[in-house]
Amino acid sequence: RGLADLSAAALQIARTKSPKKKLPKDQLDFGRTFIDHMLKINWNSTDGWQAPQIEAHGPLVLDPSAAVFHYAFECFEGLKAYRAVDGSLRLFRPDKNMARLNKSSTRIALPSFNGQELIKLIGELVKLDQDWIPEGQGYSLYLRPNMIGTEAALGVHKPSDAMLYVIASPVGPYYKTGFKAVRLEATDNVVRAWPGGVGDKKLGANYAPCIVPQAEAEKRGFQQNLWIFGPEKHITEVGTMNAFFVVKDKSTGKNELITAPLDGTILEGVTRDSILALARERLSSDEWIVSERYASILDIAEAAKEGRLVEAFGAGTAAIVSPIKYIEYHGQGIDIPLQEGKEAGKLTETILKWITDIQYGIEEHPWSVRI
Ligand code: COI
Repeated sequence: RGLADLSAAALQIARTKSPKKKLPKDQLDFGRTFIDHMLKINWNSTDGWQAPQIEAHGPLVLDPSAAVFHYAFECFEGLKAYRAVDGSLRLFRPDKNMARLNKSSTRIALPSFNGQELIKLIGELVKLDQDWIPEGQGYSLYLRPNMIGTEAALGVHKPSDAMLYVIASPVGPYYKTGFKAVRLEATDNVVRAWPGGVGDKKLGANYAPCIVPQAEAEKRGFQQNLWIFGPEKHITEVGTMNAFFVVKDKSTGKNELITAPLDGTILEGVTRDSILALARERLSSDEWIVSERYASILDIAEAAKEGRLVEAFGAGTAAIVSPIKYIEYHGQGIDIPLQEGKEAGKLTETILKWITDIQYGIEEHPWSVRI
């Protein structure tokens, strides 16, 4: 008998008996308030995926011996649901999140699932609680799919039980009063990810170890770490985001948009992929080069010295783009130009508009998926 795959048709809905009061939208704090319902699906190694349940958002009851609490059997996703300008509800490239969650879960011996079915189920959750998505551009519903090993046993082995659940938090514009460019400390005494490791997977275990280095950078006046790897001093990521740099190329005089290649140490960011695709499609190749290659922090320092460093930003689902204004590497300061009187470079600003126009259906695009 085969294991059952995830099936949206089997969904059971138990509406909450105590709907919560919604916070005024200007008081929303990222990931602190949650909608009325959550989606929960149990899996076990004898039967496979069980009937999906939508129920009141609330505590999970797990045995303290559950695998998730001991050996980090946990992976997650982040994506957003939007109310488009035509009133329809949309997800942005949810297939990318499904593919990545499957890669993450199977890497840590948790089950795979049918991504299209989970997209349908997420659609049902969003439709049920759509009143929780605040009106207005910049507002959205941050969706957090999560898969955990729930087997109650201390043996170090593939969990016989797992749970996939999705919670959701209404969020406001990341930059309430416009962009705020950040200052980074280039960190090479701690590494976020390494060859043969799991840095390309969205595992909770990749995030916790980055908090202490971030707090240390913060003590010294920086918001985030710029993660540097290897003897070549390659730039890999920034904080929890992919890193992008624009440098004027010495030989051609063109602007080169550079981000690290997907070599197994770099998170396969959906925003990263979207930026690369849009840049390749929309920036004139007479003036631009779009590269997935490593840049060394040493080369970036040299480019800055020669006046060839054009701009830099982080890219992720939460903020979309996060402009960078300053990097310090071993006591050496690197200033990154911003537009006159603004907190972002020109391309950073352009990319934010490209992506939000698609997310809110201002520009119709196949990446914006109706639910
Ligand atoms: C991002 O969207 O940039 C993230 O990495 C999400 C973060 C809250 C873990």
